[in-house]
Amino acid sequence: MQEQAIQEIAAAQDLDTLQQVKTRYVGKKGLVTQELGALGKLPPEERKARGAEINVVRTAIQAALDEREGVLKREALDARLRGEAIDVTLPGLGLPAGGLHPITRVYSELTDIYRRMGYEVVEGPEVEEEHYNFEALNIPWYHPARELQDTFWLEDGRLLRTHTSNMQIRYMVEHEPPLKMVSRGKVYRYEATDATHEAMFHQLEGLVVGDGISMADLKGTIAEMARGLYGAGAKVRFQPSYYPFVEPGADFAVYWDNPRGESKWLELGGCGMVHPNVFRAVDDLREQAGKERVYEGKTGFAFGLGPERIAMLKYGIPDIRYFYANDPKVMGQFRGEL
Ligand code: PHE
Repeated sequence: MQEQAIQEIAAAQDLDTLQQVKTRYVGKKGLVTQELGALGKLPPEERKARGAEINVVRTAIQAALDEREGVLKREALDARLRGEAIDVTLPGLGLPAGGLHPITRVYSELTDIYRRMGYEVVEGPEVEEEHYNFEALNIPWYHPARELQDTFWLEDGRLLRTHTSNMQIRYMVEHEPPLKMVSRGKVYRYEATDATHEAMFHQLEGLVVGDGISMADLKGTIAEMARGLYGAGAKVRFQPSYYPFVEPGADFAVYWDNPRGESKWLELGGCGMVHPNVFRAVDDLREQAGKERVYEGKTGFAFGLGPERIAMLKYGIPDIRYFYANDPKVMGQFRGEL
């Protein structure tokens, strides 16, 4: 029986078969177990010798079972590991690449141009105090210009900034002239949306202050930006305009001339010479903060423009609302490239 069992154990190719063999021999009703049970029927003088014999057989079978079980378990584990192995040489599945938003791209182009001219690039708060968005920019509460920029008011009396010009004030309170900064970020207007108006859009604000800064410097700077955007032949145009925080004030346009034949004047933004009232308001804020008054007698220029207008033309996007609708059909075109 022992030999027969050992053969069957060796022949078992998997753990299930081995378990069956085990049950057949040393299970509760197994052959060896039955033999042991039959001892009681033997005459007492034979019992001891027969019992010892069966025990030897049982121990041998059990040892063979244990050994075979160990081998089969190792084989099963090896097989599983082989099956689960990761083939690092398989080509990967392509994941759709993200891409930079067109507004981000235009901002990068613009800030690169201004960095080359030595400007510091800064950002500032979108939730703003009335004073920084209006009063300090020479727009008192009774001024009709308030209505030109319909405002989202917050419950605590603060507001969503209507332009990035708040950063003129914040930057001048923190820095002394001479200075050159551009500030980019989101602005908000409470107005109906259409193809060219959104309640949230972006601006790039510029500010230069020093001794003897003039309108000529302003025009040269805008022209340099236009050349950076549209090449050496780019043209700029200025038209008188009104903003309470500049005097004189102007709107500027650049000539967009592209191979698709879409050449036209692109109204880009507003600009002008910093109003003396703005310098005064800044010095007041500085004084309140325990700082020196340093803006009296300085001159400077400021400008503000909308990157959406540049991006709409550059990328042929016909409706400003596409920028923020998260439609993969539109934004998906900007995958991968930087
Ligand atoms: N803040 C103005 C606007 O939002 C733009 C501007 C900035 C005009 C700086 C003059 C100087 O329309």
